[in-house]
Amino acid sequence: MNYLIETMGCQMNVCDSTMLDSYLSTYGALKVNDISNADVVIINTCSVRSQAEQKAFSYIGRVEKFKQKNPNIRIVVVGCMAELIGLKIQERFNSVDLIVGSKNIDKITSKILHLFGLNNRLKSGEISQKLEIVKYMTIVRGCNNYCSYCIVPFVRGREESLDYRVILNKCSVMVKNGTKEIVLLGQNVNSYNYDYVNFTMLVKKIVMIENLRRIRFMTNHPKDLSDELINVIATEAKVCSHVHLPIQSASDKVLKAMNRNYSYEQYLGLINKLRKSVPDINITTDIIVGFPSETEMDFECTLNAVKSIKFDGLYVFKYSPRPNTKAATMIDNVSLKDKKTRHAIVLEESNKISTEIVSKMVGSTQEVLVEKVENGVIEARTRNCRKVFIKNANVDCLGEQLDVTIVEAKVNSLFGIVT
Ligand code: 5AD
Ligand code: SF4
Repeated sequence: MNYLIETMGCQMNVCDSTMLDSYLSTYGALKVNDISNADVVIINTCSVRSQAEQKAFSYIGRVEKFKQKNPNIRIVVVGCMAELIGLKIQERFNSVDLIVGSKNIDKITSKILHLFGLNNRLKSGEISQKLEIVKYMTIVRGCNNYCSYCIVPFVRGREESLDYRVILNKCSVMVKNGTKEIVLLGQNVNSYNYDYVNFTMLVKKIVMIENLRRIRFMTNHPKDLSDELINVIATEAKVCSHVHLPIQSASDKVLKAMNRNYSYEQYLGLINKLRKSVPDINITTDIIVGFPSETEMDFECTLNAVKSIKFDGLYVFKYSPRPNTKAATMIDNVSLKDKKTRHAIVLEESNKISTEIVSKMVGSTQEVLVEKVENGVIEARTRNCRKVFIKNANVDCLGEQLDVTIVEAKVNSLFGIVT
């Protein structure tokens, strides 16, 4: 059975797709990139913004067209849209063979195998042994924060932390299989708590795993970023100096309406603490423009924050009302034109700042970990999580830690040579 997997949305979906890869390969299924070689197309969907849903609809539509000429191909839709509007998808695309929501992610493999009449019993220890230098691991599922714009708590459910013993065990197995870097995932990863073991305690335990080189984590909610966690980032050599800390807005009025539970001043306090404790910290963020009732003045607050904080990188989104959320009951009164303008302004400013920051890195020497070598392209990452393409290393450097001199810098990537 050959499968093609199209992954949309956040790192949690990337993580789920990787899990699916491991399970399917256990049964001899082969991952392909070209639909004409696939027996099944799996679409891992995202619901966080309506644009993401439109993207999935149009992708499913294209696969459906392909199926008209190739009727043996199976279409499987998984992830958040499958959870939220599975029935609607089935009605709109009757060629879809299987729909499995994100809450039932562990059942996907057996259901797909069933579609093909294959045996679905998994023997323990049979998971794929393919060498992956970086592995993602979800440690907190769901979210309890109910930010007023966000659909995640409705789709992924209440927050649930995994048993730390299970996490530690999985991490150890990953490292034994050659993984050098583990990325801990959760919608709100620093609210991890299981049997009085909080996130900082968990990170300290994972750090002890021999041969593990790096730990990263995302996403952080400002209200849960504790001093002790900042201290761990500062002091534990294996913990990468990167924090993705969504601000969403810098207007206190909008933050309140978003139910974010912090003020701009409190957010700024965290940035100052982080920069003081971890000098090479890379801080990235998410911003929503055009939230209901966001005035020009509110937007100016956000823009000024972007200019003064100088984030290393950011994602900016145009507000989109989502079903069931509190914000969907508010009047979506910022016009699409204004949303587009604000979006473009933030993006332009942020690109300018990122370019300034990375161009200062040209000529510096950075310790990088080689994460991927594919078709002669060598991808590595600095300790503070910046992607570096290495121009001259030989191709068997996968998993190695190297010193590189940065010779060229673009907004989102650096280019270096091994010195
Ligand atoms: N509209 C626009 N952006 C949203 N996000 C989440 N929900 C919405 C929405 N309804 C953004 C937030 C979040 C990121 C993953 O997606 O910025 O941090
Ligand atoms: Fe959504 Fe807020 Fe939870 Fe993030 S913290 S997943 S934005 S509800």
